[in-house]
Amino acid sequence: MSDSITPSQREMRALVHDRDLVICVGSGGVGKTTTAASIGIQAAMDGRRVVVVTIDPAKRLANSLGLEALGNEEKEIPASKFAEFGAECRGSLHAMMLDTQKTFDELISRVSPDDASRDRVLSNNIYKHISDTLSASHDYMASEKLYDLHHCGKYDLVVLDTPPMKNAIDFLEASGKLTRFLDDTIISWFLKPHDGGKRRGMSLLQAPGAIVYKLLGSVFGNDFLDEIAEFFVATKDLLAGFRERAEAVSQLLRNDRKTRFVVVCTPRSTSMEEARYFHRQLVERRMPGGLFIVNQVGRYGEIERGPRGRYLGDADRSWLKTRLEASASSQELAAFVEKLESHFDRAVALASDDRRAIEGLRSFAGRNCTVAEVPQLPDEVYDFDGLLAIDRHLFGDREQP
Ligand SMILES: Nc1ncnc2c1ncn2[C@@H]1O[C@H](COP(=O)(O)OP(=O)(O)OP(=O)(O)O)[C@@H](O)[C@H]1O
Ligand SMILES: [Mg+2]
Repeated sequence: MSDSITPSQREMRALVHDRDLVICVGSGGVGKTTTAASIGIQAAMDGRRVVVVTIDPAKRLANSLGLEALGNEEKEIPASKFAEFGAECRGSLHAMMLDTQKTFDELISRVSPDDASRDRVLSNNIYKHISDTLSASHDYMASEKLYDLHHCGKYDLVVLDTPPMKNAIDFLEASGKLTRFLDDTIISWFLKPHDGGKRRGMSLLQAPGAIVYKLLGSVFGNDFLDEIAEFFVATKDLLAGFRERAEAVSQLLRNDRKTRFVVVCTPRSTSMEEARYFHRQLVERRMPGGLFIVNQVGRYGEIERGPRGRYLGDADRSWLKTRLEASASSQELAAFVEKLESHFDRAVALASDDRRAIEGLRSFAGRNCTVAEVPQLPDEVYDFDGLLAIDRHLFGDREQP
């Protein structure tokens, strides 16, 4: 490992080398997808078998990795793509976009004791509605898929790119929420063996709750009631499986030898506030975090005004003068230089705001946390080359293959 890398780059290298699960979180547009892809590329170059999972339906990740589109199946980014840009893939890199409905159906199949109970649930209208509602938040399905990919034996590292953190804790609580939903009193009321567990299904109608059923039946119709009764009876068999999975997912997310959350933000104040908020949520839940990536940092932090209070010194001016003399008057040249000066002024002011914000985050985070920085690149990151440029900032220069 090269000596010239910074402490945060060393920490980032350890992250892709040691962990099994990396989850990128942060507010909208800060660079979660870009960061997840860069982490994936670095880990693959490091020799690990990696899959990057996105929940973002935008084609950005697919395109920047050189793929047409992504679906619920993992797609490999060939080693030749790395070679094209002078990099070597010593492991492997896959990417996929999570289809939450498919994942939910797969989950039902897995926890069903037999084909008949699986089919009963999948074709049930109440299931369809509930799965729509649950999977709409994406959160539970994301953690579920994560668990699955982690255990399938094909990958050493799973990198998850999450959607913008509208409600940051949703994802962290998804598995617990599902368990609570299953334990909900209304469900247990429906499932209570009113007849001592001897009879199932519509026998509920003869049970003490029958009066309520009759009332509901007159409002919603008996077909609807049949569906409800069937759904609850069918899912009863699945409850234990669900609970077990939800518990396993929750443990995996808390395992600090395997998992790490990476909080991505920009130096802008709203994004920083959300990063701090998310960090606190992780600490509260004893989930492994403590790693911030401040992306899109102003790039002119090091530039200072010259002796005459100007950014462009005499040498720059005479360089411009000789190049523009033939086609520009000295007034035009002066106006142009003035414009450049004010652009510099603004960029330098922004960079110094950014520096202050980052220092603030560092003191908030404390010595046990790491704050890595990635500058605002001149262009958007839309291809493999751009991702490699991000990599150089996050992980330092690569040793040549
Ligand atoms: N360091 C950077 N320099 C220049 N452009 C960047 C940088 N990081 C990200 N971008 C650009 O910023 C935009 C947002 O990045 P990205 O899509 O990764 O963010 P996101 O957090 O995943 O967004 P969303 O919340 O919408 O999913 C993209 O156009 C990307 O190319
Ligand atoms: Mg994204």
